[in-house]
Order: sequence, then structure tokens, then C-alpha cells
Amino acid sequence: MAEKHFKYVILGGGVAAGYAAREFAKHGLNPGELAIISKEAVAPYERPALSKGYLFPQGAARLPGFHVCVGSGGERLLPEWYSENGIELILSTEIVKADLASKTLTSAAGATFTYDILIIATGSTVINLSDFGTPGANANNIFYLREIDDADKLVAAIETKKNGKVVIVGGGYIGLELSAVMKMNNFDVTMVYPEPWCMPRLFTSDIAAFYEGYYANKGVKIDKGTLVVGFDSDANGDVTSVKLKDGRVLEADIVVVGVGGRPLTKLFKAQVEEEKGGIKTDWFFQTSVPGVYAVGDVATFPMKLYNDIRRVEHVDHARKSAEQAVKAIKASEEGKVIDEYDYLPYFYSRSFDLSWQFYGDNVGETVMFGDNDPASAKPKFGSYWIKDGKLLGAFLEGGSPDETKTIAKLARLQPQVTDLEQLAKEGLSFASKI
Ligand code: FDA
Ligand code: NAD
Repeated sequence: MAEKHFKYVILGGGVAAGYAAREFAKHGLNPGELAIISKEAVAPYERPALSKGYLFPQGAARLPGFHVCVGSGGERLLPEWYSENGIELILSTEIVKADLASKTLTSAAGATFTYDILIIATGSTVINLSDFGTPGANANNIFYLREIDDADKLVAAIETKKNGKVVIVGGGYIGLELSAVMKMNNFDVTMVYPEPWCMPRLFTSDIAAFYEGYYANKGVKIDKGTLVVGFDSDANGDVTSVKLKDGRVLEADIVVVGVGGRPLTKLFKAQVEEEKGGIKTDWFFQTSVPGVYAVGDVATFPMKLYNDIRRVEHVDHARKSAEQAVKAIKASEEGKVIDEYDYLPYFYSRSFDLSWQFYGDNVGETVMFGDNDPASAKPKFGSYWIKDGKLLGAFLEGGSPDETKTIAKLARLQPQVTDLEQLAKEGLSFASKI
């Protein structure tokens, strides 16, 4: 099979790939210089839509509506945008071998691609219950959600299993967003997760209590503090029930599993330095191999604000790291350097009528403010994280765009806090003093 050479190759066709392509185009590209190689069949899109608008019972989001960069208010890059900009979009092509020494990628079909500069943007894959050896985990109608093909399979099951019973395994982002949207589709929904409260990697027990109360009011049942230990299926292989560690059995027509992600770094094992489960990079997202960059979910990068190194599995960082890498590549071609990446962590989620944002670092003591009664007509509350007398993190549910900017400013500036009780009383108005 013929070999194809490109000056720049982006491996992966997700969020980071799309934002990197836009950045390359801004700097000016010659036709045929840049290729994106993706195992997905569609041009880069805003992945967060898959667990939200894509599954709505009415007015569901569909491509081409949510191609990048609409998620950050930018231009929508339709498939023809890539050809108009001389960018080769090589879709439905999985790379199965990467040899960084010879700068060669090989696809499952045996095609080879060589490059001068590589940007690794392979994102994450889901952790599968079969990885834990959970019996029955291969039954039909047990779904995971990462790519648009996964979402399409779930959409088909929503049609065929109308008004049925759904068990959601996991109490993280997928668990909370999927249980809400399945309820909106009129399913009988039960969430199961092992921890004492939902989203423990970010939420305090107080924040979680609000969401658990709100979901309960919407009719979502929650079984926490227990594990799924197996599944039963019928003669067709369709899942019928979920077995819990505490001995109970839940009936299920559909199961959705969200028990975490794993960065897709295996193609590069022993070829690049790794750290914290990801590919180690510098401020410019260059890896230990010159000319090879890693962005988005796979990158473990220096976090200037906290003087440590981290991996972030969220869309805002996928966008910004991609832009930073391309700016750095273009600058280095001109013998210039750009500013070091100085990222302020930003996470968000939406479900039912709720919407929260979080900026900064969730370490230290916490104070809550506002109305966190799940039965309120319009709940609005927040939480601050304070460590060593400094406000480091801020969370807000139900805030306006201006209020969201306010909490971002606080997390960036890290103001001194002396009196936690006073801070709780002041809530958002604390920012007016800064
Ligand atoms: P991303 O996963 O977007 O793209 C990776 C691409 O690489 C895919 O196209 C994949 O097919 C391709 N690929 C991988 N291996 C390959 C190979 N060997 N050969 C060829 N192609 C290969 N974040 C947030 O902040 N807010 C939110 O609301 C959400 N919501 C959300 C919903 C759902 C359902 C998911 C799965 C994730 C989110 N996220 C999120 C997380 C966010 O979407 C995620 O952090 C970014 O998509 C990461 O961008 P990347 O480009 O790194 O990977
Ligand atoms: P997660 O890490 O948010 O949550 C995993 C959850 O799985 C844990 O909280 C726990 O409740 C549960 N769990 C772990 N082991 C388990 C087990 N053995 N049995 C049952 N439950 C178990 O991961 P996720 O929700 O699967 O999300 C996958 C990826 O997608 C992550 O990278 C996430 O950041 C991303 N995502 C982000 C958003 C967002 O930012 N709004 C939305 C959806 C997905």
C-alpha cells in the first residue's frame, strides 16, 4: 500500500484535533501539509453533546450541528472546511502501530503515514466492566458512551425499549448526565455507585446532597455504597437484570456504564516518557521526543498555577492545549517562543434544568453559600475551597454568565480569606471586594 507523507499529522479526530486544525489554518497552511487521522467516521465534533443534547427526547442535536468549534462560540468546521483549507481528513482509519523513531504510523488496513511533526490527540477510552471480569458484562443492551457510534446504539435502544427500566452504573459525569437524560426519555432509572455520594472526585458531601435530592425529586432512584457484581440475560443474550453486591437484583432493559476513562497512550508505550497515566509534556505540549506533541486527555502537563503536573479529562483543556501546541510549533518554525501554558482548571456539567461550573482546585476546607434546597423553584448555590488562607476553588450551580466569570476570577486570583463564616455569608458578593 502507498505511503503518504505530511508535514504535520494529528493522530485522533476529536475535540483537540479540531481546535488544532483551526489554529493551524489561522497561521496559514499549504495544501497537503496537514492530515488528521481518525478512527471515527465523522469530522471533529464537540464530544460533550453526546451525553446531553444528542439524547434529548425532542429536538435532539445531530451532526452537522455540533462540529467543532461551536462549543466555545466559534465557527462550525464542516467537513468541507477541511478540504477548502487543504487539510486531509483521513476518517474511519485506526492507527494500530506508531514508530516514533522512523516517524511512521500504520493503519489497521496496512496504510502507512509519515510525518515531520506529530500531534497525539487520541483522547480516552472507557473502562469496561469486562476489564474487572464482571460476569455477564458482555450481554446485549449494556452501553458505554465515548464516540458517536456508541451514542447511536443507545439512541436505537431508547426507541426499542421505550418506557423500560434503565440501570446506570457509576456516579461520576456519565452517571449523572445519563441518568438525567434517560429520565427525560421517560425511563424508570436507577443509579448504582460504590461511593457514599455522587461525583466524589469533585463534589463535597453537601454539594452531592443537593444533586441526589434533586434527582430523587425527578424520580431517579439511587443505590449508593454498593457495587454491580454481575448481569443476567435472556435466551437472546439481552440483559434482564443487574446483580448488586448487597444481594439485591434490579431489573433492567438497558444498562449504561460510566465507570471512568483511560487515556489512549498504548501505541506510544516505551517510546515516550509517561507520568500520571498520560504522556509527559512540557509547557508547549512537546513530549520527551522532539517534534512529537501530546494534547487533550492524553497529556500530563505542568500546571503553573499549582506548581505540579496534571492530566485533565475535560473539553476546555482539550481545546486550549491543542491551540497552545500549534502556536508553539509555528513559533518554533520562526525561531520564536511563546508564553508557557498557564491553565486554570475549568469543569462543568448540565443535566435536567441544572447547570454548574467549577474553576480552580478542590483542595482544603470548604464553605457553601446560597440556596441549595433541591425543592426550590430556582436553586442557586456555590462552594469555595480554601487552603492555607487562600481561596483556590469555586463552584457555582445556577449562576449567570457574569457570575461564572466572577468565580473564574476568584479561582485565578486566589484571594486571602481570613474568616470562613463571613465568606459563607458573603457568597458571591465576596468577589466585589477583590
Ligand atoms: P477525544 O476523545 O475528543 O478524541 C480522540 C479521538 O482520537 C477520537 O476521534 C478517537 O476515535 C481518535 N483515536 C483514538 N485512538 C485512535 C487511533 N489509534 N487511530 C485513530 N484514531 C484514534 N468535558 C467537559 O469539560 N464537559 C462536558 O460536558 C463533557 N462531556 C462529555 C461527554 C462525553 C460523552 C464524553 C465521552 C466526554 C465528555 N467530556 C466533557 C470530556 C471531553 O469530551 C474530553 O475531555 C475531550 O473530548 C478530550 O479531547 P481529546 O481530543 O483529547 O479526545
Ligand atoms: P468518572 O471518573 O467521572 O466517574 C467514574 C465513576 O465510576 C466513579 O465516580 C464511581 O462512581 C464509578 N465507579 C468506579 N468504579 C466502579 C465500579 N467498579 N463499579 C461501579 N461504579 C464504579 O468517569 P465517567 O463518568 O465514566 O466519565 C468518563 C470520561 O468522560 C471522564 O474522562 C470524564 O471526565 C468525561 N466526561 C466528562 C463530562 C463533563 O465534564 N461534564 C461528562 C461526561 C464525561
